[in-house]
Amino acid sequence: MTTTLADNFRFLRALIARPKDVGAIMPSSPALAEAIAREIDPKAGPVLELGPGTGVISHAILARGVAPEQLTLLEYDEDLAQHLAARFPKVRVFQGDAFDLDATLGKPNGSPFAAIVSGIPLLNHAMSRRQSLMEGLASRLMPGAPLIQFSYGANAPVVPPPGYTVKHAASVLANIPPAKVWVYRKA
Ligand SMILES: C[S@@+](CC[C@H](N)C(=O)[O-])C[C@H]1O[C@@H](n2cnc3c(N)ncnc32)[C@H](O)[C@@H]1O
Repeated sequence: MTTTLADNFRFLRALIARPKDVGAIMPSSPALAEAIAREIDPKAGPVLELGPGTGVISHAILARGVAPEQLTLLEYDEDLAQHLAARFPKVRVFQGDAFDLDATLGKPNGSPFAAIVSGIPLLNHAMSRRQSLMEGLASRLMPGAPLIQFSYGANAPVVPPPGYTVKHAASVLANIPPAKVWVYRKA
């Protein structure tokens, strides 16, 4: 089981405190988490997950074969970040804002990520803010590495800026609400 009753309460508490940032009524389903993890090559290098919530996707990333020491989680909500650190003791967990990566993770240090997974509810942010987040993330990715975003809308949540491609990787009906998985890459 990847989501317990206690996880659901923890998630609900964060939702009530910051509805726009949490942006979903419950954690993602295992089916969505697995569809996202499938897009990761577990041997390619370190992985960053933004907005991991209670850790359902983090669990799937580890089950995919990514070593815990190779996974970094960045969660804004303090209670959720503490929960993640206790749940995944070998994983690096940061509490902070994905829209200010230099402040939370430090400046890019020449060791780019082999994949970034984002659970940030982008549809609650202006398109210019979504694009600048994506450009900031691209500077922390290996060339051609995937930026994997899930979203509840019909279309890709970010219009890819020039030089980027986007692929619809999966539609997952077994999630509340049904979700799509999108993979962005910088050409
Ligand atoms: C839709 S929930 C997804 C949670 C989890 N990934 C899942 O699939 O169940 C969005 C998560 O992103 C976090 N979040 C929202 N804005 C954030 C930000 N700017 N920086 C870091 N985390 C953020 C929220 O606190 C919440 O945990």
